[in-house]
Amino acid sequence: MCLTIPAKILEVREGSAVVSVNGKPAEVLIGISDKLSIGDYVLMTGDYLIKKIDETEAQEIIDLLRSTPSAPRETLPDELREVMQNAAQNRLRKDDIEYILNIEDQQLLSALYAEANTVRKANIKDHICVHGIIEFSNYCRNNCAYCGLRCDNKKKKNYRMAPEEIIATAVDAVNNRGYKILVLQSGEDLHFTKEILTEIINKIKESAKCFIYLSIGDRPEEEYLAFKEAGANGVLYRFETSNPELFASLHPGHTLSERLEQLRMMKRLDYVLSTGMIVGLPGQTKNDLANDIMLIKELGTFMPSIGPLIATQNTPLQNAEPIDFDLMLKVIAALRLHLKEARLPVTTAMETLGGGEDARQKCFMAGANSIMFNLTPDKYRAEYHIYDHKFYDAEKRYEKWALFKGDLSYEMLENELGFSI
Ligand code: 5AD
Ligand code: SF4
Repeated sequence: MCLTIPAKILEVREGSAVVSVNGKPAEVLIGISDKLSIGDYVLMTGDYLIKKIDETEAQEIIDLLRSTPSAPRETLPDELREVMQNAAQNRLRKDDIEYILNIEDQQLLSALYAEANTVRKANIKDHICVHGIIEFSNYCRNNCAYCGLRCDNKKKKNYRMAPEEIIATAVDAVNNRGYKILVLQSGEDLHFTKEILTEIINKIKESAKCFIYLSIGDRPEEEYLAFKEAGANGVLYRFETSNPELFASLHPGHTLSERLEQLRMMKRLDYVLSTGMIVGLPGQTKNDLANDIMLIKELGTFMPSIGPLIATQNTPLQNAEPIDFDLMLKVIAALRLHLKEARLPVTTAMETLGGGEDARQKCFMAGANSIMFNLTPDKYRAEYHIYDHKFYDAEKRYEKWALFKGDLSYEMLENELGFSI
């Protein structure tokens, strides 16, 4: 679902109102039954005014989505100006991305983030998409070197949600809380067979109108076909790194080419693709990251999924150094300049690295535009321990602002996504 910039009511008419958005007046239809008066703050979508909010909330949202002033172009070095020019003409090259990733000067970084934020606003306005993730099993047959769910980690306490519980959690999130985009995630757990998963997807789709991303790892094509036919819409599956040697060293028994073949198969089956990499893997270079960003676009990704490596106990990478948060922001900005219309989520690992809500705001200001909320029932949440100190937004303020119910809210989302759900 979406969060949009607030508007202030200037005049109330019969069935419509004149509002001021970003200082400009516009007439919009009234899509709610609340009593409205001059001076009230509202959220609107396209032609409709959809929710009344109080002034404090309005100010918080305005601050969250504010424009950052760009430095005058003529004060920037030629190289950065050229990169921005190439991005504007949709011909950002790998060298340009490497240049971005190597910027250290804080003034230039501010100019870069402001540019990425401007590109976000110009291409997808102030829509913040909210996703809800249900982590339904922490069993995993794989042994990825960075992950707390790896099968060699004997310290984890395993759980599986029952199919009815997964369905009930999903349906409640959609029908009672207003979520419309769900991610069903697990380790690679073959206990959930094609039949079981198909049934779960079917049942959710029967009772709740929503977009479902699957994040369940490797499966044969015929299984992904069955899931698609049951109503799954997208897949969230990272390639983790585009460097084949690094990939092989982190994923015992697996190769990058197999992973890319899976992603291409998913694309052929017409899944909406969400993929990307971990930033800060040992031995990963800026050249690797630039290749990762190019690959995200080449694969036809709708929603890049990226995040920093977080060192995790009981894994081979437990002593990894945290990356500099600016590297994360540079990757976000480069992605926004390269994929102007992408949904670009602030992932939980970014919030974990950068200190929660503060980090979230910084990521929006560098070009991100989506968030992921955790919908996993409380009793399991701590056991889905992919990495240490995982940030959890208990307050979920954005949920209150961004999740609406009813037909209009679907219209809003579908307009914004460009396809129906
Ligand atoms: N730090 C950051 N991200 C991690 N993931 C797994 N372990 C870690 C970690 N320690 C990410 C992987 C995977 C996603 C579900 O979680 O990129 O694709
Ligand atoms: Fe399993 Fe995914 Fe963790 Fe790898 S990253 S160990 S596949 S849960």
